[in-house]
Amino acid sequence: MFGATGGIGSALTEALRQSGQFREVVGFSRLKEPRFNVENEATIKDAAEKVANRGVPALLINAIGLLHSDGLQPEKSLRSLNAETLARLFAVNAVGPALLMKHFLPLLSKNRRAVFATLSAKVGSIGDNALGGWYGYRASKAALNQFVRTASIELARTNPLAVCVAVHPGTVDTALSKPFARIGLPLQTPAEAASTILQTLSRLTPGQSGSFIDRYGETLPW
Ligand SMILES: NC(=O)c1ccc[n+]([C@@H]2O[C@H](COP(=O)([O-])OP(=O)(O)OC[C@H]3O[C@@H](n4cnc5c(N)ncnc54)[C@H](OP(=O)(O)O)[C@@H]3O)[C@@H](O)[C@H]2O)c1
Repeated sequence: MFGATGGIGSALTEALRQSGQFREVVGFSRLKEPRFNVENEATIKDAAEKVANRGVPALLINAIGLLHSDGLQPEKSLRSLNAETLARLFAVNAVGPALLMKHFLPLLSKNRRAVFATLSAKVGSIGDNALGGWYGYRASKAALNQFVRTASIELARTNPLAVCVAVHPGTVDTALSKPFARIGLPLQTPAEAASTILQTLSRLTPGQSGSFIDRYGETLPW
């Protein structure tokens, strides 16, 4: 689990631990041991070595993401585009997850089912974009989706039973969504989202590898 201290990431980690389906659940984060930072490739490589020393992973989930932080707000118009902010959003939402796949996909079993899922966002869909705004978040999630799709094609050549997908969790009550929560919109608790996502991941087949899906496993437009 990557991003194990985040809203959805901590609920996923807890649900995986409670399921008893896995010998061990390792939650990587910036805040707690084992630590890593997705903006620092050396720490990703180190995390992959730690996992490799513990065995062959059956399920890898990336729940990292950045929409806003101190001094970083989603852009409402072209006027507010800023190179530094865009680079940061791409670093966390797209480049970091791509480097996670670089270091972790080679650890998956070559002859058993294994899943790498990264949390993406429907607002990263180009086909579904009717509202505009949120330039950096949207574009970095679209780039993430392309990284997942491309990696899935390479992965299928060596690991025909592996599944590599981008998952939209729906709107979930976390620090990421809080400033933008609108009254009346359906909002899931992190535990609800985690439970639905894990049920879907357990059902995915290799034929669905490389897809962009919602939490129920339905395909979303790129
Ligand atoms: N919540 C929603 O409604 C919603 C909707 C659509 C998509 N998503 C996606 O779902 C995923 C999880 O979001 P969330 O709602 O759980 O957000 P969150 O509570 O803000 O969690 C985000 C996670 O990303 C981690 N992170 C950020 N920068 C990092 C870095 N440089 N290195 C390592 N970890 C880093 C955070 O770590 P720290 O704990 O160290 O800060 C945190 O664990 C994200 O990809 C988000 O885009 C969420």
